[in-house]
Amino acid sequence: MKGRDLLTLIDYTPAEIEEIIDFGIEVKRNPEKYYDSLKHKTLAMLFAKTSTRTRTSFEAGMTQLGGHAIFLDWRTTNLTKGRLEEEIRCIDRYVDIIMARVYKHEEIQAIAQAAEKPVINALCNLFHPCQALADLMTIKEHKGRTSGLKIAYVGDGNNVCNSLMVCGAKLGAKISIGTPKGYEPLERAVEEARKYAEVNLYNTAEEAVKDADVVYTDTWVSMGQEAETEKRLKIFPPFQLNMKLLKLAKPDALVMHCLPAHIGQEITADVIYSKNSVIFDQAENRMHVQKALMLKLLGKA
Ligand code: CP
Ligand code: NVA
Repeated sequence: MKGRDLLTLIDYTPAEIEEIIDFGIEVKRNPEKYYDSLKHKTLAMLFAKTSTRTRTSFEAGMTQLGGHAIFLDWRTTNLTKGRLEEEIRCIDRYVDIIMARVYKHEEIQAIAQAAEKPVINALCNLFHPCQALADLMTIKEHKGRTSGLKIAYVGDGNNVCNSLMVCGAKLGAKISIGTPKGYEPLERAVEEARKYAEVNLYNTAEEAVKDADVVYTDTWVSMGQEAETEKRLKIFPPFQLNMKLLKLAKPDALVMHCLPAHIGQEITADVIYSKNSVIFDQAENRMHVQKALMLKLLGKA
């Protein structure tokens, strides 16, 4: 029987998302309880793009659960020589769970279709669901809740923004997004989020950030958009998360960034290292929540 995938979080209920996040908090508190939970299990990690956090957190997480992870770089495998479908069908015979970072959303869908084992989207052009799970876990840890909070995101309405919006709205947060015109988040994701919470889209950073409990930003040039760098660096500067912008949020607002950060572009160094920043907790929580996710998808929770 086909295992459950995690591709977008759109097909996950608020209760299911909350369960993964709460389990992430539990796994973080009591790592030793789960040391043998995935003994003799293997995770395949397929990367078409580069990564620091995603690769390391999944690989270390799998070690901590007693399993093994295999790093498969697109360039040193035959994933593009044959059709993706046949290549995945083979990998699927060897391993218990698959995660993949790809360019196009259709590619992660094709991987999920070809595999019997659970498939996790480790970032595509449209979504970054593991990041959103870690983000909402971090907010819950620091604020004690997610419901009723105002989460503001400024910059490019990209994959990280889409997933944060869907996940945050499902957990009852009010979402406020400030992007330049033409760089708004995915319409399908906005519609989904609006089923659960208020979502406001603005074309200035100041309006979006006003009285926010969380202020989030991400790169202006995502992986795969390198050819647009010059154009984007001209459009986005009014959306920089700096101390002046942060002052418009609540005094105890959390500052978040998925990293890698481009200091002096979307965020300034003083904001990253300000008392409001939870950026490194957020990065750490990738590992805890992904451990919880893998345990859930493999029926070991
Ligand atoms: N935040 C994140 O996914 O980081 P990496 O691209 O380094 O994996
Ligand atoms: N939006 C960024 C996130 C990197 C973790 C990208 O897709 O490159």
